[in-house]
Amino acid sequence: MLIQIKPPFPISSSEITPEPVYRDRRRFLARMGLSAFGLACAACGRADPPASQASGRTATAEESRTLSIATRTDRAGGEAVTPMDSVTHYNNFYEYGTGKGDPAANAWRLKTRPWTVRVEGECEAPGTLDIDDLFKRYPLEERIYRHRCVEGWSIVVPWDGFALGPFLQRFKPTSRAKYVAFVSLYDPQQMPQAGNILPWPYREGLRIDEAMHPLSFLSVGMYGKVMPKQDGAPLRLTVPWKYGFKSIKSIVKIEFTERAPPTTWNVVASDEYGFYSNVNPNVDHPRWSQKTERRLGELFRRPTLMFNGYPEVAPLYAGLDLRTYF
Ligand code: MTE
Repeated sequence: MLIQIKPPFPISSSEITPEPVYRDRRRFLARMGLSAFGLACAACGRADPPASQASGRTATAEESRTLSIATRTDRAGGEAVTPMDSVTHYNNFYEYGTGKGDPAANAWRLKTRPWTVRVEGECEAPGTLDIDDLFKRYPLEERIYRHRCVEGWSIVVPWDGFALGPFLQRFKPTSRAKYVAFVSLYDPQQMPQAGNILPWPYREGLRIDEAMHPLSFLSVGMYGKVMPKQDGAPLRLTVPWKYGFKSIKSIVKIEFTERAPPTTWNVVASDEYGFYSNVNPNVDHPRWSQKTERRLGELFRRPTLMFNGYPEVAPLYAGLDLRTYF
């Protein structure tokens, strides 16, 4: 069945993210000499190019497929789910541009089939998995989680996928596996807007015990549908107690490592984006406060919760000074 892609969600980043924050992040990229694109965009005086470049294109049957979900759990304390239109038209996916509407406009170029994920490194059973085998192998769960971006906006999303820990266990990590590194696809043919905005490919990492925590999740869909491309199809990480940038999109490689792997934003600015990046209202970003956030679609800011409201992860950080290990 073919469906028409909906028109762009009519909220610009200037209405959601405090202006100094989104301006600063772009200015910062420009200062780092990383964003000719970001500079041009800021100079044009419009915060977000409209998402309408996707115009007229119809989603394929695979892109609009409804998923069969075995179990559903609300892990956001009954908070209202953010409308899907907002979640799919206000994105960060820098491979497709720096404007919040760019991923919805441009990510149609992403080819999600064929798609494989290579799992290797410090493990006894490395392997390459085809995304369609993943769909067959794992009964899908839906988990409603809060998602808090480091920029100060947040959403509540029903993610569809499966727990990361049991998935990783089947590759038999060795005792030397202390961390798990994740790598996104980077293909300039499919991501022509990326340019040299960031060092590619986008990379993220977790400590192995964080990766094995029952809240850590691999998402293949949202709202009962296959993952929209702008949200990280066909497979993305979802770690609800960390800032959104840890939730890496369009994963092609997972590696067990002995040492902490490089992670994109930490490489770009280690003083601003730590390896851990747990949501923490008590540790401000050097250029803005993290005490409050604005939920997409709401007028007023609300207090940000420690670990984004998932206190069960606190034991993972017992004895760590979260100001140093931010
Ligand atoms: N993954 C890749 N490959 N590229 C990115 O630019 N942005 C990150 C994260 N994962 C990003 C990424 C950031 S900054 C955030 S806040 C979330 O994706 C946004 O997810 P969403 O667009 O689905 O809300």
